[in-house]
Amino acid sequence: MCGIVGYTGQGQAVPFLLAGLNRLEYRGYDSAGVAVMDGGQLSFVKTAGRIAELEEVLAGRGLSGRVGVGHTRWATHGRPNQQNAHPHLGCHGDVAVAHNGIIENHAALRRELEARGHRFRSETDSEVVVHLLEEYSDRDLRQALQAVTARLRGTYALAVVRTQDPNAVGAARQDSPLLIGLGEGENMLASDIPALISHTRRVVVVEDGEVVVLSAEAAHIYNQEGEVERTPLEVGWNLEEAERGGLPHFMIKEIREQPRALRQTMAGRLSEDLSQLQLEIDPGPLPRKLWFVACGTSYHASLVARRLAEDVLAIPAEAELASEFRYRHLALGGEDTVVAVSQSGETLDTLSAMRQAKAMGARVIGVTNVIGSSISREAELNVPTLAGPEIAVASSKAYTTQILALTFLVLAYAKASGRLTAAQEQAWAKELWALPEKAELVLQKEQEIEAVAARLSQAQDVFYVGRGTDYAVAMEGQLKLKEISYLHAEALAAGELKHGTLALIEAGVPVVALLTQGDLIDKTLSNLAEIKARGGWVYAITSHDLLDRQELDHVFVLPAGRDELAPVLAALPLQLLAYYVALLRQTDIDKPRNLAKSVTVE
Ligand code: M6R
Repeated sequence: MCGIVGYTGQGQAVPFLLAGLNRLEYRGYDSAGVAVMDGGQLSFVKTAGRIAELEEVLAGRGLSGRVGVGHTRWATHGRPNQQNAHPHLGCHGDVAVAHNGIIENHAALRRELEARGHRFRSETDSEVVVHLLEEYSDRDLRQALQAVTARLRGTYALAVVRTQDPNAVGAARQDSPLLIGLGEGENMLASDIPALISHTRRVVVVEDGEVVVLSAEAAHIYNQEGEVERTPLEVGWNLEEAERGGLPHFMIKEIREQPRALRQTMAGRLSEDLSQLQLEIDPGPLPRKLWFVACGTSYHASLVARRLAEDVLAIPAEAELASEFRYRHLALGGEDTVVAVSQSGETLDTLSAMRQAKAMGARVIGVTNVIGSSISREAELNVPTLAGPEIAVASSKAYTTQILALTFLVLAYAKASGRLTAAQEQAWAKELWALPEKAELVLQKEQEIEAVAARLSQAQDVFYVGRGTDYAVAMEGQLKLKEISYLHAEALAAGELKHGTLALIEAGVPVVALLTQGDLIDKTLSNLAEIKARGGWVYAITSHDLLDRQELDHVFVLPAGRDELAPVLAALPLQLLAYYVALLRQTDIDKPRNLAKSVTVE
């Protein structure tokens, strides 16, 4: 949901801003712009479309200056055109603002500012910020930002430059991510780490309600009480991890990285002789009920975890879409635990659901992939996934590492509550250890999937079916296909087909079937026979020996292992299938239409 960057230092601002925007383009990509302090004047360039178009225009303009801000947009208010692109400039061209978030009271503010003579040029909610800043031009940057943010309702990360502070970049945050990168003779701002790591790995997280004043020499953070001192975090990623490494898309790079991502997430959590789990997760007492809240792919990982929790812990567990959870009238209390699952750790629906649960007294745990993210900081306990940066909008390695981290969380409860015998613990440790290698074996069969993709790419609709945990995995498979190939896909609990959707099955309709849960395979096979009887084309993914497979049109065989871990392996052919279908359909795989990676609006 929009990416913002800012630079002040001894170097040129534009190269940093452009490189940063390119790395944040996953957050939004319908228009972009930069504003740079050039000889005491603000110069700006804004274009509709991708960063590449902005780069092209900038190449002909030779904008120079050592202080500037930039923005890549995911439109909320106002069409994605040049006029609505950020940064927005005030009436006199001496203040520029880039904004990520939504200003909820923009209409009232706009009326008020227009009555005071301000001329608006865009349809955006964001433009009110720059006009408000003009109203406070008699105050220093910190005071002006504090006065402006006191008037705003909604969510924002702001990056500001104004001619009266020619060496400074100002910033403010409320519920939208904002980081400071500390460099040598330069300081920077960005919505996410990949934009900073070409220049520094020392990062400071800006908290809600804070304003920032950056110069080349110093980064000052203020809250209402005064200046705040905060120790920087050291980012473990390197630049290579945030780049495509010669591959055509981030998505295929990230799919192939999964064995490594699983190993990283597992590191140090298994004893060397594989007899013990060394989880170092103190989940607290076993709750009355365990809730998993999340959106999209993270929700699908939560569905897998819910089953595992029910099976291993024998307590009630639920997985709920964060956007729905918030509007249920739930009687949560101190005996409940809510696990917020989010790759970015910034998804507003999930963050708000977590905050609500916390306010009601529930214990809250985060499972996130981004250090310093809001969910990771606000949760009482954070169980990290160590997948490394995930840049493609379609989530892949985040999903499989989430399942792994959630498995660790459930096992930590099991261990702490005496529900795991030594033999069971050892069996888990051995299976977990073998998982990354099995993932490698699955990925070696990439070409097999490429061939099936040709069949699916011609379809009108694709159905994904499974029972139990396989149904959860089917949901993830269909989301992946829809999201990047724009093909209609639908996931169904296999037993539900006969209650309606079977009417859509006719000759040649493709059905992807998940058959990894031993106790449910026979039942699912019966449902597949019903599909075959109506001419459907069945592509099955299984980790079991299927005695009765002659009915199936194509069978993809996964390495055998514990059914509980099969979702990790089953996700891989599903991700590859979606990728190759999208490749054949020539869609924009890393940046599918209408979507953005980090969804910080409700
Ligand atoms: O960062 P989060 O895990 O909280 O994001 C949640 C969803 O927006 C995300 O998983 C989305 O569904 C992906 N694009 C799916 O590939």
